[in-house]
Amino acid sequence: MSTPPTTPARVPAGSLLLEGRTAVVTGAAQGLGLATARRFAEHGAHVLIADVDAEAAHLATKGLADARLGPGQVLAAGCDVTDDASVRAALDAAVAATGRLDVVVNNAGITRDASMRRMSEEMFTQVLDVHLRGTWLGTKHASDVMAALGHGGAIVNVSSISGKVGMFGQTNYSAAKAGIIGLSKAAAKEVAKHRIRVNVVQPGLVRTPMTEAMPPAAWEQKMAEIPLGRAGEPDEVADVVLFLASPMSSYLTGNVVEVAGGRFM
Ligand SMILES: NC(=O)c1ccc[n+]([C@@H]2O[C@H](COP(=O)([O-])OP(=O)(O)OC[C@H]3O[C@@H](n4cnc5c(N)ncnc54)[C@H](O)[C@@H]3O)[C@@H](O)[C@H]2O)c1
Repeated sequence: MSTPPTTPARVPAGSLLLEGRTAVVTGAAQGLGLATARRFAEHGAHVLIADVDAEAAHLATKGLADARLGPGQVLAAGCDVTDDASVRAALDAAVAATGRLDVVVNNAGITRDASMRRMSEEMFTQVLDVHLRGTWLGTKHASDVMAALGHGGAIVNVSSISGKVGMFGQTNYSAAKAGIIGLSKAAAKEVAKHRIRVNVVQPGLVRTPMTEAMPPAAWEQKMAEIPLGRAGEPDEVADVVLFLASPMSSYLTGNVVEVAGGRFM
């Protein structure tokens, strides 16, 4: 009988979940990405905040570094997730500074909402480009770097329940967010042999700059659909991303975790 692969070390009670690990979070200058970067720093990780808005990425980085949340470094990179070289450069910068790459969260996102018949092809393509192609590039390069380093890793891709049920006015976003699930499951199968796990979070309505731009009537309509009776806070998504990024979820790959207060369960 062949020897089974070794089980990863369990997490001792009370320990920091990402101590000594290196994480890159895209679109982390604000919103869910920033909350995730903060949670990772609190749990001991070196964190690189990657965002297309380089100035905002540097400001967010300074904010986290000044708060001295944990023992890790906080780094910034201007990074456009739709640009192959830019994605690779952000990951390489994290490795150059810390010698590792353990976690990549593909979180960057935009919306260009309109009913399908009013949506231009450009609005469709822009959203597919940032979410689906961006997540594919992030997953591909993260896998490549992690496999070369040989220490395994965790990739967490940010979908949305819009990709589960399809939202009015979001044929572009719903398609991209559904596509992220297929790509993540396929990638999970390909990279498992390198001890790289790929999982997905599907947030529901969470209070961030993206959703605060919504008209009040649309917000109220969504609230009525949530069994827990309230919107989620960015930290509540960040905690689930932390779980999927950490050894606490060592036997999960190709999973989709809804963080939606029961909406569209
Ligand atoms: N807020 C919600 O209710 C909610 C629900 C479900 C899913 N999501 C998803 O969570 C993720 C984060 O959303 P958020 O609400 O924090 O949004 P947000 O608009 O507050 O933040 C998105 C960040 O992504 C960055 N970004 C945009 N295009 C980029 C690019 N090409 N390259 C790199 N960075 C880029 C922006 O500069 C910004 O800092 C997105 O993928 C979004 O679709 C959000």
